Amino acid sequence: MRAVVRREYGDTSVLHVEDVPEPALEPGHVIIDVAATGVNMAEWHLMAGRPSVARLALGIRRPKRPVLGQDVAGIVIAVGEGVTRFAVGDAVFGSAKGSWAERAAANADLLQPLPPATSFEQAAAVPMSGYTALQALRAAGDIEGRSVAITGAGGGVGSYAVQLAAARGAHVTAVCSAAKAAFVRDLGAHEVIDYATTDPTDPGRTPRRFDAVLDFAGGLPLTRWRRVITPGGRLVLGGAENGGPVLGPLSRSLQAPFTRGLKATTLVATTNGDDIAALADALGGGTLRSTRSATYAFAEAARAVDALCAATHPGKIVLVP
Ligand SMILES: NC(=O)c1ccc[n+]([C@@H]2O[C@H](COP(=O)([O-])OP(=O)(O)OC[C@H]3O[C@@H](n4cnc5c(N)ncnc54)[C@H](OP(=O)(O)O)[C@@H]3O)[C@@H](O)[C@H]2O)c1
Repeated sequence: MRAVVRREYGDTSVLHVEDVPEPALEPGHVIIDVAATGVNMAEWHLMAGRPSVARLALGIRRPKRPVLGQDVAGIVIAVGEGVTRFAVGDAVFGSAKGSWAERAAANADLLQPLPPATSFEQAAAVPMSGYTALQALRAAGDIEGRSVAITGAGGGVGSYAVQLAAARGAHVTAVCSAAKAAFVRDLGAHEVIDYATTDPTDPGRTPRRFDAVLDFAGGLPLTRWRRVITPGGRLVLGGAENGGPVLGPLSRSLQAPFTRGLKATTLVATTNGDDIAALADALGGGTLRSTRSATYAFAEAARAVDALCAATHPGKIVLVP
């Protein structure tokens, strides 16, 4: 079967479509005929082997698992021992390691039926960004009636965090480029800060202080955020691409306990079936919408990852075989 692989670490020139062996069917798993798969910054990190501390797990000199991908939507074509929730022919979405392939093996606990009126491409754009947003909101605590700022609001995680925070009754300030202002307002943001012209951490210019900040852009020092977070409020360190080649976002997390007067939580999102079920319910119930805005073919995976890094498209990018 065809898959998007990288045999060495590097920029997007290391991505190739290759023939690879079919995935093995293990107990508790199903095999999915992949219709669409999501593109996340995680794939960039896995492709680049950055931050380099991650290579301790990924493979020091070269990646141990050549096939990328983790979000999936498609049709079940084989069911492993012990799986009772799914049958051959079911349309599903969720998480499957190695999903940038024509077929992928997935733990059945990490899948849900494709929600009604949702396409494979729309569904594949949800899992990782969606459960990261859910877990970030959980880390922020009770946000009903509170003021919440979300950076990276026009991207994958941010576009779900804006919707989920607004649905929970928060007053949402989205921080994004001017090009994505209309997009985030449409998702439910009450206020928009264009970071190119307005510093969201300037207490003089910020309309109010924030009870929680979900930071998925990471461009600003922790001490600056401290100025605009209410006493008792919390900064959730969701992501940063400017943390250096060795430690990446960990460098900010390591500073957080030493930043007096700031309550910060480092988010390490984990795949879990309950969150994927919650996302499926929200999609099916119309309280969350997929933010897929661009689709690339497997053969264009390098262009898709370049577009992700350049923040070309609002929301999410998906790949199709
Ligand atoms: N903690 C975890 O477990 C976890 C899980 C998933 C992802 N992440 C991390 O979370 C971050 C976001 O991931 P993603 O998948 O949402 O990436 P993404 O789709 O690329 O979104 C990032 C967005 O940030 C915006 N941006 C760039 N500079 C900004 C700034 N200074 N202020 C506000 N927005 C800015 C970009 O668009 P504009 O510049 O056009 O606004 C882009 O839309 C990444 O660092 C990723 O690695 C962490």
